[in-house]
Amino acid sequence: MTLRAGLRGQTVLVTGGAGFIGSHLVDRLLADGAAHVVVVDNLFLGDEANLQAALATGKATFYRDDIEFATSLQYIFAKHAIDTVFNCATKALNYSFLNPANAFATNATGVLNLLELQRAGRFKTLCHFSTSEVYGTAVYEPMDEQHPRNPTTTYAAGKAAADMAVESYVRMFDVDAFIVRPFNNYGPRQNHKGMLAGIIPLTAWRLLNGIAPEIHGTGQQSRDFIYVSDTVDAVVKLYDVMPAGENINISTDNQITVEQLIHRICDYFGYAGEIPRKEARKSDVLCHNASNERVQKLIDYQLTSFDTGLAQTLAWYRDTLGPKGERA
Ligand SMILES: NC(=O)c1ccc[n+]([C@@H]2O[C@H](COP(=O)([O-])OP(=O)(O)OC[C@H]3O[C@@H](n4cnc5c(N)ncnc54)[C@H](O)[C@@H]3O)[C@@H](O)[C@H]2O)c1
Repeated sequence: MTLRAGLRGQTVLVTGGAGFIGSHLVDRLLADGAAHVVVVDNLFLGDEANLQAALATGKATFYRDDIEFATSLQYIFAKHAIDTVFNCATKALNYSFLNPANAFATNATGVLNLLELQRAGRFKTLCHFSTSEVYGTAVYEPMDEQHPRNPTTTYAAGKAAADMAVESYVRMFDVDAFIVRPFNNYGPRQNHKGMLAGIIPLTAWRLLNGIAPEIHGTGQQSRDFIYVSDTVDAVVKLYDVMPAGENINISTDNQITVEQLIHRICDYFGYAGEIPRKEARKSDVLCHNASNERVQKLIDYQLTSFDTGLAQTLAWYRDTLGPKGERA
């Protein structure tokens, strides 16, 4: 059943829109006919280069600012008549090991600031991005939307708090807000730098720069990887049909261990050298096997095969980050 009349013609705000998933979402919204896309991102991890194509359309505006400050959002809302907000802003999970309190606060305060604006009638619909991390290590598999939330990091605790804030504002004030819960995404533009890097970009970057890849722990921890444009496709389709106050997993049924993944990336770049073992990372969840039964029922759910998605991703890193790449 259609609940919302699509995003075409809307003015949309994407928080964290210079980041990985957010920037792909911005491109998709513009391609689908959004009238204007406003991005707010403090560039903690995002990169303005990710918005190059979007800004070139003349239909996107970028604010380098921080959603933890209510006043920063207020001035953006004073300048634009926003219809819908996609809340993608966050600080990467690993940051919670450096600054646990702020990792929590970014996730919780940002959404509260948005919910207060929504409660005051400043925009209509909120699509909030949660994470599979809120579930912690699986107590049953596959993990559906009823799986207990058992965060193991302050990052995930902040995300779980944010989910509960969204749910309670819907119950208390009848705002139109729903929660999408992606599992591990991969694809072009995912951050490759430093300790906040995702495993695929980090490994690609190391190999492209002549540094051996690493496996943390046994390598038997498994992940359910979804290609970023599949997540974005699901989110824009879900926009029309997701009931307010509800959550939905966005995942695949593919499981791959970290060890298998590293070997696949090594094979792609023709690396046959050592793969040093490192200590397991604290709070690294052992398994994230998701149920995507609900999303399959609600939308025409299209998934790119892991072989295709991984090849496209690694080609992008090769062309962009390699010694001769544009962001090398
Ligand atoms: N990438 C994944 O595998 C994955 C998995 C599950 C859920 N998610 C969720 O999807 C959303 C997007 O994740 P991503 O992978 O694109 O992350 P990302 O780090 O690439 O993007 C997040 C963006 O938020 C920005 N940001 C951080 N703090 C901010 C603040 N206070 N104000 C404004 N901007 C701020 C960062 O600069 C960055 O550009 C997040 O909510 C994340 O929790 C991602």
